[in-house]
Amino acid sequence: MSAIAANSLYPAHLHSIKARADAALQKHGFDHLLVASGVEKLEFLDDRPYPFKTNAQFKAWLPLTHHASSWIAYTPGLKPVLVYYQPDDYWHVPPTQPEGAWVEHFDIRIISDPADAAKHLPTSGRRAIIGEPDAALPGFEPNNPKGLLDYLHYHRGYKTPYELAVMRLAQRRAVPGHLAARAAFKAGASEAQIHAAYLAATGQTDLDLPYSNIVCLNRNGATLHYQYKSNDVPSQHRSLLIDAGADVDGYASDITRTWGNGDARFESLVNAVENEQQALCGLVRAGTDYRDLHLECHLRLGNVLRTLEIVDMDPGQMLDAGVTSTFFPHGLGHPIGLQVHDVAGFTDEDGTLIPRPAGHPYLRMTRTLAPGMVVTIEPGIYFIPTLLAKLKATPHAKAVNWSNVEHLLPFGGVRIEDEVHCTEGAPENLTRDAFAALA
Ligand code: GLY
Ligand code: MN
Ligand code: MN
Repeated sequence: MSAIAANSLYPAHLHSIKARADAALQKHGFDHLLVASGVEKLEFLDDRPYPFKTNAQFKAWLPLTHHASSWIAYTPGLKPVLVYYQPDDYWHVPPTQPEGAWVEHFDIRIISDPADAAKHLPTSGRRAIIGEPDAALPGFEPNNPKGLLDYLHYHRGYKTPYELAVMRLAQRRAVPGHLAARAAFKAGASEAQIHAAYLAATGQTDLDLPYSNIVCLNRNGATLHYQYKSNDVPSQHRSLLIDAGADVDGYASDITRTWGNGDARFESLVNAVENEQQALCGLVRAGTDYRDLHLECHLRLGNVLRTLEIVDMDPGQMLDAGVTSTFFPHGLGHPIGLQVHDVAGFTDEDGTLIPRPAGHPYLRMTRTLAPGMVVTIEPGIYFIPTLLAKLKATPHAKAVNWSNVEHLLPFGGVRIEDEVHCTEGAPENLTRDAFAALA
């Protein structure tokens, strides 16, 4: 799938977005939908801008991700208006002239002063104004109606063919980075060097990434969202856990790979987690409650812990006693799309919470899978000192083979993460397909 092919799907995508907006406006009693892209923010007492992040409800309409102070105004039955902020700026590069497959579908009004947006936006009628508070203009204060937003968020769970095409491209963009990262690890690089290799291979800078890369050598793999990239070259390269994605036209990929370096016990653990991860990817089927997949994951990882002689307990008992949660303390995955942790993973169309299973507070997805959804499947087994210390203080400590745990502690942990598209039939693994295409 090329970018050109993805673009050919854009008109149908926009049609779906409009239909969704029509339904949301009608259901919640509004005449107009106004969406602010957001504003550039400055550091306190400074003139340095923070990285700009577009309102996801804005980039749902069109692939503009670097466009502060712009607006979309949509009234059912009318061509949507795009207020396009293009300052006359010689300090920074201003947005270029609008171009792309989307241009002909919008009534574009170019402004060079953010306040001029007001001249192009509807001033009467019942207006749903979506945006961060900072985006307010006089008379255009975001009200973010909860019911309407819940509806739009919920339906973002179902990707259009255009979105799926762009998300496949986001996978393709990330995969060379993962291969380069592995090569850098095998060559003895530092975390910072591995990160740099990833960025170079994907043609991204830090600012382009959909989330900060998680690049962990050795024990750092036990910190789930490890936020540093050390310049130190460790004396031994035991393991690399890299969780890194890419952005294409505002859509994210989110991929994790873990590599060992010849230690038989750690390599067995990586292989076992990957086998279960692949089996779980195969269970992404329409009608399956994602909560059940999460619990199934615990049982499968419990089985891994038992088979590899880390914990000698029945997997069901491990789950009930919270022992699997010591080693796997996060959720199986989450919806992904315009945001890496996409919205509405655990609410219905009306914003009502779909509860998590008791004892699983970090699960980000509780909906029943349906065609068009894309979710991550990211099981892991980690050796987290604080959680192990808690386990050691319980009666279940005696079921743990602490010498095996001690051996594995310096490797940090294992996570394997792919994105999977739920279809009418067999699941589509976007990530594996991208790796295969590059091989
Ligand atoms: N990269 C964060 C996550 O996997 O959820
Ligand atoms: Mn993820
Ligand atoms: Mn991830």
